[in-house]
Amino acid sequence: MSSAVLSKVEAPAGASRSEAAVAIVEVRGLSKIFHLEDRDVVALEGVDVTIREREFVSFVGRSGCGKSTLLNIIAGLLDATSGTVDISGQPVIEPFRHVGFMFQAPVLLPWRTVESNVLLPAEVMGLNVATVREKARSVLATVGLSDFLTAYPKQLSGGMQQRVALARVLTYEPKLLLMDEPFGALDEFTREAMNLELLRLAESAGITVIFVTHNISEAVFLSNRVVVMTPRPGKVAGIVDIPLPRPREIAVMQQCPWPAPLEVVLPEVWVLSPIGGRTDGEEAA
Ligand SMILES: Nc1ncnc2c1ncn2[C@@H]1O[C@H](COP(=O)(O)OP(=O)(O)OP(=O)(O)O)[C@@H](O)[C@H]1O
Ligand SMILES: [Mg+2]
Repeated sequence: MSSAVLSKVEAPAGASRSEAAVAIVEVRGLSKIFHLEDRDVVALEGVDVTIREREFVSFVGRSGCGKSTLLNIIAGLLDATSGTVDISGQPVIEPFRHVGFMFQAPVLLPWRTVESNVLLPAEVMGLNVATVREKARSVLATVGLSDFLTAYPKQLSGGMQQRVALARVLTYEPKLLLMDEPFGALDEFTREAMNLELLRLAESAGITVIFVTHNISEAVFLSNRVVVMTPRPGKVAGIVDIPLPRPREIAVMQQCPWPAPLEVVLPEVWVLSPIGGRTDGEEAA
């Protein structure tokens, strides 16, 4: 991915680095309509957001507000109906090599060992597996799985399986990591540990992260900014800076206050609207 065309923007809130931040992801006027047999569903409407290099940005919003749809469009896995997404100044029309994606489930092949699951993308992409193996082992060590290289997924706990998925995506050195509720299925204790691990790894490798979660406290703890989405059709209701210092430690996570602007925007979009968004048949074709 080239950094050819870059827009200067404000530095991330709470950033530990002082250099001028540049945009890595630019979403402009993005809308997505799904055409069903009997009607159209407007999943996203006029979404504008800029993510800066090395920023950690979380998207929060009610179920069905279009978070996964947005992430899939940014990943190049789904076409937008209108609007554009640029990554490092290049329009997204297919998945980029240096963009990693992590889903809620680890998506491991049960008949392959931990190491061989991590090496699978190298095989698919035709990379030199011996070279990638070295990197994979080093990343697996970083996430505490050195002793499980030859284990199969069913021999691991849910948290360990997600660590394999994290190691798999980090092995390929993404510049941008898209995460769709990656730790949502884990217990709270494991999720906190994974969040700390993720922050440490993303900061040390200089990875920009776009993170989707239902958990507001998690979003506040992790993020430079939190984007609050309206119920369907998903629009940006507000973008809130989280000016907590970095690195963020466990003590911050446990008593992380919600910034006042977040307290204002959340009730507007969540408490006063029906679950799932519009239900009045508004999108009838
Ligand atoms: N492939 C699809 N075909 C038709 N409609 C879809 C498709 N994918 C998503 N939708 C619709 O688009 C809307 C947004 O879905 P999306 O999965 O993006 O929501 P979400 O915010 O990720 O929800 P959740 O928090 O439950 O994961 C929903 O109304 C959903 O029914
Ligand atoms: Mg989703």
